[in-house]
Amino acid sequence: MNRHQHWENVHTDKPADQVSWFAPHLEVSLRFIDKLALPTSASIIDIGAGQSTLPDDLLTRGYRNLTLLDISPAALQATRHRLGARVHSIQFITADITSATLPQAQFDLWHDRAVFHFLTAPGDRAEYRQRLQQSLKPGGHLILATFGPQGPTRCSNLDVLRYDAPTLQRELGSPFRLIEPATQLHQTPSGATQQFLYCHFQFNAPTP
Ligand SMILES: C[S@@+](CC[C@H](N)C(=O)[O-])C[C@H]1O[C@@H](n2cnc3c(N)ncnc32)[C@H](O)[C@@H]1O
Repeated sequence: MNRHQHWENVHTDKPADQVSWFAPHLEVSLRFIDKLALPTSASIIDIGAGQSTLPDDLLTRGYRNLTLLDISPAALQATRHRLGARVHSIQFITADITSATLPQAQFDLWHDRAVFHFLTAPGDRAEYRQRLQQSLKPGGHLILATFGPQGPTRCSNLDVLRYDAPTLQRELGSPFRLIEPATQLHQTPSGATQQFLYCHFQFNAPTP
């Protein structure tokens, strides 16, 4: 089954609050975002947004320039439905991040929780990095959450890569400066514990 079909099935077969990565609020992400204190006009993209409640919490904080990208149309449709009238200030992009067309130097913040770690092929990670570097503004921020070194080796029946902060730094390369790492023990809806690594990086665009 291809990647697109896999995720479309996940988002149509299981209630959003029953998937292993569900959290009522993305607390660590929100802690990092609150610390950044970006203006409410900041341009924020969430990669592999799924049906997470991050946009709800960002709208409540006043952010109004939000973009949600996901490979699954069903996931984005469910989010549209959940947000109701609040949805008007959100841009939706249905795309695979390894082939998405994104605007140049557009975003102040790129957020990804639990997507990058599914990219086990080096070529896919290179495509991801290319889009990240092209569409973040110079000086922009990256909040990247993956499974940590003690996290699971599979998720949603797919292999994942686990990272510590130095490995993630090496993966992203010198244009990204690690500002702060944090680990979190995530409780899944079925009661298991998964170690996540969250890293805040700042982007210093390479000089051409
Ligand atoms: C583990 S879920 C995480 C969802 C959300 N970020 C969260 O924290 O609740 C992974 C999400 O990424 C999406 N996804 C997986 N691979 C993707 C890809 N290559 N490009 C875009 N989205 C992808 C899936 O549809 C799913 O919504």
